[in-house]
Amino acid sequence: MKQPLIEITNLGMEFPSDDGKFKALDDINLTLCEEEFVCILGQSGSGKSTLLRIVTGLLEPTSGSIRFLKEEDPKRAIVFQNSNLLPWMNVIDNIALPLKIHGVNENEARQQAETWIERVGLDEFSNEWPQTISGGMQQRVAIARALIQQPELILLDEPFGALDAFTRDQMALELLKVWEEFHPTMLMVTHSISEAVLLADRIVVFSKRPGYIIHELEIPFPRPRTAELRDRTEFFDLVKNLRNLLTAS
Ligand SMILES: Nc1ncnc2c1ncn2[C@@H]1O[C@H](COP(=O)(O)OP(=O)(O)OP(=O)(O)O)[C@@H](O)[C@H]1O
Ligand SMILES: [Mg+2]
Repeated sequence: MKQPLIEITNLGMEFPSDDGKFKALDDINLTLCEEEFVCILGQSGSGKSTLLRIVTGLLEPTSGSIRFLKEEDPKRAIVFQNSNLLPWMNVIDNIALPLKIHGVNENEARQQAETWIERVGLDEFSNEWPQTISGGMQQRVAIARALIQQPELILLDEPFGALDAFTRDQMALELLKVWEEFHPTMLMVTHSISEAVLLADRIVVFSKRPGYIIHELEIPFPRPRTAELRDRTEFFDLVKNLRNLLTAS
């Protein structure tokens, strides 16, 4: 039985607005377990990014609570919709930065960064500046920069949104491999239903504004999973069910 890592209880978020208050999230109850991969699906504006920002600690909820259940708060890494790379550092230095901040020496940090550059398929671009590579490549650098920290909890907010369909597929499979290797807890927002079904142990579906959870679904496919899973009838059926749920949300 997996251990609970984060417990979100009756969580709500209101933002000030011109005519009083605007409710973005309403009564969210969600427990994330260690090593679990949870995907959030929901229409635009349903509060998905807001919830992720609360989990990262960037934002305080206005009601309810979020509790980390281990003695120490888990080491978190975040990949946002935009890559947020440092423009004055080349690709390899951007990836190595979190290690250097944590005191890893230059050589070791570079060596590890090189491994991750290869894993995201950018080894030819290690000396380029972020501005000179494509948006999709920038996002791959951001993903490598998060993964190099081998965090216990990885938060991903539409990390593949800027990628072309082919690269997006490759990155989803790469993320699967990463999960198999390190078993980090993952909380990922995506607009791709099939990506969520391929990756997640559990999918949480948000309602329209204000976001609350209208459905939670365990994904029954065993691990390790591979690309072939996407050709199975059971896979299509789940994608279809979820699409119907989202359309009705
Ligand atoms: N800092 C803020 N101040 C005021 N309103 C905000 C703030 N952040 C988010 N909102 C509002 O809260 C709602 C939810 O926003 P959020 O970005 O969480 O949605 P989302 O589900 O991530 O949407 P998308 O799929 O388009 O990324 C939106 O209506 C947004 O305008
Ligand atoms: Mg968002």
